[in-house]
Amino acid sequence: MPVKIGAEAEHGFDKPIALMKDCHRRIEGFLGVFQTLAALPPGAKLDTGHQESLRKAVHYFESASPRHVADEEQSLFARMRQYPQCDDVLRELERLEDEHCRAQSLHATCHTIGQFWLELGSLPDRQREKFAVVVNDLAALYKTHIELEESRVFPLAESLLSVSEKEEIGQEMADRRGLFATA
Ligand SMILES: [Fe+2]
Ligand SMILES: [Fe+2]
Repeated sequence: MPVKIGAEAEHGFDKPIALMKDCHRRIEGFLGVFQTLAALPPGAKLDTGHQESLRKAVHYFESASPRHVADEEQSLFARMRQYPQCDDVLRELERLEDEHCRAQSLHATCHTIGQFWLELGSLPDRQREKFAVVVNDLAALYKTHIELEESRVFPLAESLLSVSEKEEIGQEMADRRGLFATA
């Protein structure tokens, strides 16, 4: 049966920072899919629901996750760096960008194994073990990463950035998804 995934987005492009938090809930949800599948007993075949969940999770991290990174690095962090009040979090922003790179590399491994799993229906033990290790590393990375963004970086951005800057960010996020910011 399909693995339960997090809630759909609740905010619009007029609330770009809240929308980024909605993206976090989806990241956590799809990561949870990977964790559930990684915990299946050795040799277990994926049923139809598992296949569907895995396909969606693989697709999400391939397509939507890079857009979230661009939302943060190009739209949010770049604007924050223009403010002297941001000096205190410059190191944290660098850390977050380094972690985006690390996550990308871990996702690439997850993607390869996930595709292989979908094609074969089951995985050799070594691949399953590798998948579990990489998923575990991703979960640990995202836990502290998201905590830092939501406890420190996003609240600072909410208070620093002007209304027009937030509108620009929302528009850029919509453009990345081929959508209209206001509908
Ligand atoms: Fe991030
Ligand atoms: Fe994020």
